[in-house]
Amino acid sequence: MDENQIRREIVEIARSLYERRLNCGYAGNLSVRVGDLIWVTPAAVPKHRLLPEQIVKVDLEGHPLSPGRPSSEAKMHYAVYRAKPSVGAIVHAHPPFATLVATSPIELPPILPEMEIVLGAVTWIPYARPGTQKLADAVACALAHAKFGILLNHGALSVGRTLSEAFDFLETGESLCQTHVYARLLGLTNTLPREDVRFFRQVPD
Ligand code: 13P
Repeated sequence: MDENQIRREIVEIARSLYERRLNCGYAGNLSVRVGDLIWVTPAAVPKHRLLPEQIVKVDLEGHPLSPGRPSSEAKMHYAVYRAKPSVGAIVHAHPPFATLVATSPIELPPILPEMEIVLGAVTWIPYARPGTQKLADAVACALAHAKFGILLNHGALSVGRTLSEAFDFLETGESLCQTHVYARLLGLTNTLPREDVRFFRQVPD
């Protein structure tokens, strides 16, 4: 993928997040890493109205290599990339149900095989002020073994090898949160057998 394709893909996925009601307004930020280079969304721009030329290219330390101001939360993207070389893309958004769970935490026991196979365990990221190194370090630590995390009092974040994979994990995580919230409202949540969870998550016996 060349640089123009990367920029276009970020714009396209940002718009999909908006159209699928996974993000709105000024919220969220997205990035792609290829080798030692990162392309990240700019700060304070509605993500569904982004233009490819607004995406900011930076190095792994966050030094800008193209015009524009990187996301105010870019530090958490850099921290994940530095900690986990297998990650090629990150999506942070404020999906309604994941954000509801982030502000009113409920237990998320394993309930659906598909979710266990695709996502595995959801990780919880303690609250720290957005944009700080403290939050960046907490995100990198929590995402070491997870694909989808809930940022307490903030939103959600997913990582993938590609941007479309990170998008899919975010959408899957949001769907899982929605099911949990509705199950709670019904007052009963059937959980999966423990041995099946181990099987789906491919945890050796
Ligand atoms: P940026 O526009 O700086 O990326 O911030 C968006 C956001 O999600 C704030 O929580």
